[in-house]
Amino acid sequence: MNRHFALEQDTRGIAWLTFDKADSSTNVLSGEVLEGLDQVLVQIAQMHPKGLVIRSGKANGFIAGADVKAFAKVPSAASAEQHIQRVHEIFHRLEALAFPTVAAIDGFCLGGGLELALACDYRVCCNDSATRLGFPEVKLGIFPGYGGTVRSTRLLGDLSALPLMLGGHTVSGRSARRMGLVDLAVPRRQLRSAAVDLIEQRRPPRRAAWYRRLPALAPLRPLVSRVLATQVAKKVRREHYPAPFELLAHWRATAGDESAMYASEAHNVGRLINDATAQNLIRVFMLRDRLKSQGNKADFTPRHVHVIGGGVMGGDIAAWCALRGLRVTLQDRTPGDLTRALQRAHGLFRKKLKDPYAVQAAIDRLMPDHRASGVPNADVVIEAIFEDIEAKQALYAQIEPRMHPDAVLATNTSSIPLEVLSKGLARPGRLVGLHFFNPVAKMPLVEIVHDEHSEASMVARAAAFARHIDKLPLKVRSSPGFLVNRVLMPYLLEAVELVEEGVPAAVIDRAAVRFGMPMGPIELADTVGLDICLSVAEKMSAALDNPVPQRLRVLVDAGDLGRKSGRGFYPWKDGHVVKPTDTAGSALADDDISDRLVLRLINESVACLREGVVEDQDLLDAGVIFGTGFAPFRGGPMHYVHSRGSRELQQRLDELESRFGEHFHADSGWGAVA
Ligand code: NAI
Repeated sequence: MNRHFALEQDTRGIAWLTFDKADSSTNVLSGEVLEGLDQVLVQIAQMHPKGLVIRSGKANGFIAGADVKAFAKVPSAASAEQHIQRVHEIFHRLEALAFPTVAAIDGFCLGGGLELALACDYRVCCNDSATRLGFPEVKLGIFPGYGGTVRSTRLLGDLSALPLMLGGHTVSGRSARRMGLVDLAVPRRQLRSAAVDLIEQRRPPRRAAWYRRLPALAPLRPLVSRVLATQVAKKVRREHYPAPFELLAHWRATAGDESAMYASEAHNVGRLINDATAQNLIRVFMLRDRLKSQGNKADFTPRHVHVIGGGVMGGDIAAWCALRGLRVTLQDRTPGDLTRALQRAHGLFRKKLKDPYAVQAAIDRLMPDHRASGVPNADVVIEAIFEDIEAKQALYAQIEPRMHPDAVLATNTSSIPLEVLSKGLARPGRLVGLHFFNPVAKMPLVEIVHDEHSEASMVARAAAFARHIDKLPLKVRSSPGFLVNRVLMPYLLEAVELVEEGVPAAVIDRAAVRFGMPMGPIELADTVGLDICLSVAEKMSAALDNPVPQRLRVLVDAGDLGRKSGRGFYPWKDGHVVKPTDTAGSALADDDISDRLVLRLINESVACLREGVVEDQDLLDAGVIFGTGFAPFRGGPMHYVHSRGSRELQQRLDELESRFGEHFHADSGWGAVA
């Protein structure tokens, strides 16, 4: 009868409903699943069991949420509203069952999945690290619409529930227990018995104490929502990310009246889903999946990684791999060279793992190895030494003969072509690029660099390896700057050009942030280090005909390298930028500035597509969003081209070329873009 649910009744008379979405590795609430749930709830009601436990049949979690892919195809706000009203009916049916109901949560329980759990009388979850609960809806440009705003405020009180929904973050099982989101958090082996106990004890279901619902009183709501809106505005701009502000408006208008809240959820979430912001954020969600599909974990199971070079990048790559459960040997020239890398690694483990046993296990997985004894056992060898051709080639000559024939040899080079580095290797095709970004623990993208000589199996293994360490692989052809640095460089150089024209750095950064960049280009250059920017710019300038602005050289020659030296374009104090507050003095409007910056990035993106650096426009958008933080709510540079109109943008480039010079000359690839 039902492809997605299995129902059994045990000898105690308790019904066990197992959700195991057919043809899918993850449980999501598609339209078909929700109708299936409705049917099975009717059937269960007629069985009159002693209680009902809802659990997942998937190993990876309880329910990941609503079917986000279906949101991308919503034809209108009205149809989205109808869909939400229908889900409200189904969850009301669950809530109204005449016997106790429990959600037994093992693994992630997010968005619509958490809303389903909230419609049960009780929730019990695992207290392990895989279990996370939360409302990520605002990250998709909407807010909880399957009754979540009603039931979470009723259960937790408004001042606990609203921040959970506004922030979009997840909480562990233990924190969920502390805040009252679940009734019990137990070890996995006790999940079943805890669910049975909740049914047999028949405690009155939890509700927030009366005083926790005081902020929902009509006279207090305007003040509370204003305070919360101010907090949200510190993190996101309303014009870029309206959803949290819309959530507060919804709460302010309807809190305290449940039927009005349900109606307003359906109406407002239905409307938001259809907006450009949500549609673009949903696109980014799907682009992440597209990147994931570039690497197939089943292709390759790496167990041991050997990293050579324990500097900024190698040290952090080694730490990340150990954090993700791999055995890692880390090589540098002398043991002393590894001290700082190991200290940073231990800091990362403590921050991410918290549990002292898990921290110790990660420390044990990461072994300093200046004698390179890990090489023969490694499944992947990653070279991250100085950016120096001869040094890298000399190193490969030593390690290649000692490597296992199936092992991947990878370089983290940011600028040297593979065909140069692989000269002298017995098997040149085994060398691929695994280009990580700085800081490794924060940046999700890894470029998988290959060329026509690369062995296909090595490229596939490198991409699979990236998936095993939870990074997003993007296959790029070996060419100067690959994709991310290539498109970022003209954007940064244009910013320096603007400084040379006399536009204050803070005005340039403000324009970029208003466009939606996470950080302005000048602050970014200072953060990365002006010496690094200069070296990448010099290497790329010959190949790409991008002159390096004099200003950059002058600063580097003077030792003003940015954050690390305490002064760059800006002064820095204790690692924080000091920006002048007076930003008057620019003859250019913000839109002119952001167009100059962004159009250079887009024009270079078009060139990358023409040259086949990446396979298609979607992958380019994915790479630029996850590699640079390019305004996610705009859906990526190429998506932005289509929403503004490629013809209009070409005209704008022509105009900028006549005003500011030929570096705005439209690439010949524009014809193929439309
Ligand atoms: P770094 O200068 O911080 O570290 C290099 C490390 O390699 C040093 O610890 C050095 O002692 C060690 N080393 C040098 N020669 C060695 C050898 N023969 N055997 C063993 N160890 C040796 O350099 P960083 O910044 O970590 O860069 C490493 C590589 O990563 C370069 O190819 C660079 O282009 C690339 N990269 C750098 C990024 C960054 O933001 N710093 C970003 C992405 C890639």
